Amino acid sequence: MPEATIWSVGGYAPPHIITNEMLSHRMDTSDEWIRTRTGIHERRTAGDDETTASVSVNAGQAALQAAHFDAADLDWVIVCTDTPEMWSPATACFVQESLAASHASAIDLTGGCAGFLQTLQIMSPLAAAGKRLLVIGTELLTHALNWNDRTTAVLFGDGSSAFLLGPSDEGVPGIRIGLGLSRSDGAQSDILGKPFGGTRFPITPDVVLEGRLHTIRMEGPKVFKHAVTLMSDIGRRVVQEASLGLEQIDWIVPHQANQRIIDAVTHQVGIPTDRVFSHVAKFANTGSASIGLAMADMLEQHLIKPGQRLLSVAFGAGFSWASQLFYVDQIPPCEFRHDGQPA
Ligand code: ACO
Repeated sequence: MPEATIWSVGGYAPPHIITNEMLSHRMDTSDEWIRTRTGIHERRTAGDDETTASVSVNAGQAALQAAHFDAADLDWVIVCTDTPEMWSPATACFVQESLAASHASAIDLTGGCAGFLQTLQIMSPLAAAGKRLLVIGTELLTHALNWNDRTTAVLFGDGSSAFLLGPSDEGVPGIRIGLGLSRSDGAQSDILGKPFGGTRFPITPDVVLEGRLHTIRMEGPKVFKHAVTLMSDIGRRVVQEASLGLEQIDWIVPHQANQRIIDAVTHQVGIPTDRVFSHVAKFANTGSASIGLAMADMLEQHLIKPGQRLLSVAFGAGFSWASQLFYVDQIPPCEFRHDGQPA
């Protein structure tokens, strides 16, 4: 029976680099604090002329061009994001139009930092059934930050990544999407999120004047604790349910939240650090884009080899958390656009 397969990967890291040093001129923080607490050295921000749709188009085009795939042959364009182009219509509709995906249906999904894996889990049966999908994870999180809140502002960056998905029985080289699990606990919804601007907390002049407009709020230590426990648990569970041992996993590709979370998950899962990928130092936390960007970087660095098994784990607002197995049949083509210069 055909399975969902990643036919190609695209990644786009916007061009403007913001170093910790640059942030230290903007708020009461230091390169030393950020590095030791998070492992982050720098992050990317989108240019003034870029939006969620335009960076999504960049990553989507990269994936399509890498595979020499005509956008007109896509059945679905899905954008997973917490920082959409606008409230309505869906960001994916703008992307569908820009890519000239003339026969595709377009929709957005939102799931916080676990959203990309959740989206893959929802969409994989369609790919297995023969549909061709472009699944894009994008965040312009620097647009959603309160730059007076040093605890959150230093953690996030902008980016976009895209997987072209199709069935495994068409002879296209790729990475098969294996067993995945995801869970949510809405009782924890007040610990991490961007509460203002919806129907529960509409935007009022007070909200704007207090600088709370569309900004991310979180209780960092609580997020840390839950992220480590829940990512470790669900990752181990997926490996167990797939009747595998941890020694059969070649790479853990974690959500790039911050290095201390990644290190703690590595320790709790009990896997050697040299089998855990991290580039959080360069790109920080890019939310829904993070796992796809990590895969793009790994492919560009030739770290992923045929025959390997990859395990992703992710955690984010909701809380929602997820884990996903990938089987590398052959190396899919990849284009990772990441040239940058200091902003
Ligand atoms: N620069 C300098 N000092 C800072 C900064 C900063 N950027 N941010 C906070 N501090 C100060 C605090 O004010 C506090 O000062 P005080 O002791 O005088 O009150 C001190 O540093 C320690 O603050 P803590 O919150 O205890 O620091 P902690 O060691 O817990 O680290 C951090 C904070 C990095 C946010 C940590 O809790 C964490 O990693 N949480 C997870 C957050 C996360 O990754 N969220 C992303 C979204 S969810 C996801 O993707 C998994």
